[in-house]
Amino acid sequence: MTFDRKIKIAPSILSADFADFGREIQAIEAEGCDWVHVDVMDGHFVPNLTFGPPLLKAIRPHIQTVMDVHLMISPVDAYIDAYADAGADILTAHLEAGPHIHRTLQAIRGAGCKAGLALNPGTGLDAVTHLLDMIDLVCVMTVNPGFGGQKFIHSQIEKVRSLRAMIGDRPIHIEIDGGMTPETAPLMAAAGADVFVAGSGVFKGGGVSNPTVYGENIRAIRAAAEGAL
Ligand code: DX5
Ligand code: ZN
Repeated sequence: MTFDRKIKIAPSILSADFADFGREIQAIEAEGCDWVHVDVMDGHFVPNLTFGPPLLKAIRPHIQTVMDVHLMISPVDAYIDAYADAGADILTAHLEAGPHIHRTLQAIRGAGCKAGLALNPGTGLDAVTHLLDMIDLVCVMTVNPGFGGQKFIHSQIEKVRSLRAMIGDRPIHIEIDGGMTPETAPLMAAAGADVFVAGSGVFKGGGVSNPTVYGENIRAIRAAAEGAL
């Protein structure tokens, strides 16, 4: 993975057909997505359950781009090796998931993955200052994590603007997760984000039998974000 700040669209397979992940992933990649976002939920850190390392290992061969794994789990550390072995390119852990985020981020890089740090909407940026040399991505949650299809929280725009200034020239992606549409994405592109996760925003209206809708949705979000630069 080489670093750049070009606009990237990362569909979340949380909104895909769970009985057909292989073909869903092939469809979104054929329709032009940049990364594939995989939402891991444990029913403890967030009030929803999704999937674990065996599922990730099974879908990995279908991903040609980047496997971007968002861990909404607590504790994290005991599972890092399993998700790394499953083939994650990026492993993102939540700042709120435990008392030792520094150790967690060290372990993620130690396992050979890019390290991401996710922040809930209610979490400030203070701690990020002390972690800048050990992260490759900050995921700013623009919904409370746990479910797709929620409403974008506008108060996060200022957070992203401050985060972008804090990052400066460092090769750290700013990823936005939750409620991304052609209306909300440009607000975050203008504030400095480069990776746009979209679940319902990409998968709505399409399917493996009419994947061109995925392409239209991806292009609409991308064009809106690029238009704000
Ligand atoms: C929420 C997840 C998101 C979610 C986004 O907890 O982390 O990745 O799938 O879904 P939408 O785009 O529908 O808000
Ligand atoms: Zn996510």
